[in-house]
Amino acid sequence: MDERAAKIAAMANSVVYDSEATRDYIDGAPHVKHASLRALYGSLVVGIYDRSLKHTATSEVPQVLDLGAGEGSATLPFLELGARVTAVDVSESMLAALKEKCTAYAGMLEAECRDVFDMLHHMRDTGRKFDVVVANSFLHHVPDYLALTRDAVAVLSPHGQFFSFQEPLWHDSLGPFARRFSNVAYLAWRVFKGDKLGGFKRRRRRSRGLYLEDCPEDNAEYHAVREGIDQNAMMDLFKESGLDYQMVRYFSTQSRLFQFIGSSLGMKNTFAIISGNTGKSGA
Ligand SMILES: C[S@@+](CC[C@H](N)C(=O)[O-])C[C@H]1O[C@@H](n2cnc3c(N)ncnc32)[C@H](O)[C@@H]1O
Repeated sequence: MDERAAKIAAMANSVVYDSEATRDYIDGAPHVKHASLRALYGSLVVGIYDRSLKHTATSEVPQVLDLGAGEGSATLPFLELGARVTAVDVSESMLAALKEKCTAYAGMLEAECRDVFDMLHHMRDTGRKFDVVVANSFLHHVPDYLALTRDAVAVLSPHGQFFSFQEPLWHDSLGPFARRFSNVAYLAWRVFKGDKLGGFKRRRRRSRGLYLEDCPEDNAEYHAVREGIDQNAMMDLFKESGLDYQMVRYFSTQSRLFQFIGSSLGMKNTFAIISGNTGKSGA
């Protein structure tokens, strides 16, 4: 995957997440919208933070790097627990919303409007390390998410943890029923939103495997509109790096009704993964 694709996707994100999209973000972000997913995220964060504390000197606090931090839904829980957070995002407008959301913790927050690859390379070159690197609903925005994960692992402290939440499972790994159900659930929400004709045309084009460089919608949510994130490749990467990993699979969709039905039926289309020297491994 080349540098050009990474730049096009980053630019598409800074264009797509303008101030209007930032206001609308919650409705299209199941992990921010649904209390059950916020609760799942919260319980994973508490476990990660507690493990981090065990390896942090009593005079210090865990250092967290939030990649593609957006409007702060991943940053805030870490700040509330007492961590110091560096939040990175390519969208000015998302970071403005993040700063507003996290005002009470301004002294513990550093917000950088920058491409994550630039930021990670800068951290690596200056030797800065983090106890937690979080990528929440973010890997699917990056064409080469495996390269990004490798760069993120390189800035972890010896007991550091990489934490990714809210990523679409590799579409081919879903059973036919879960795949069809996820599509119907998405459409049941999408049909009440604007630009129906444009959305329909893009979907029809993508179903033929055609993606356009100059279409921000094709490039912002890069892998969500393509094949999803390859969770097996992620696990292999952690194994090769000698790290433990723990995967959690769950159901997520925008519509409240379908979120209820899908999770009640025990369907899975989304995953979280925690990796580090945690002493726990499993999918
Ligand atoms: C779906 S949002 C996730 C926001 C937040 N982490 C959350 O979970 O709500 C993805 C964010 O990644 C940012 N982003 C995408 N590509 C980026 C890149 N290459 N560098 C920095 N930020 C990027 C977008 O601007 C957007 O705010």
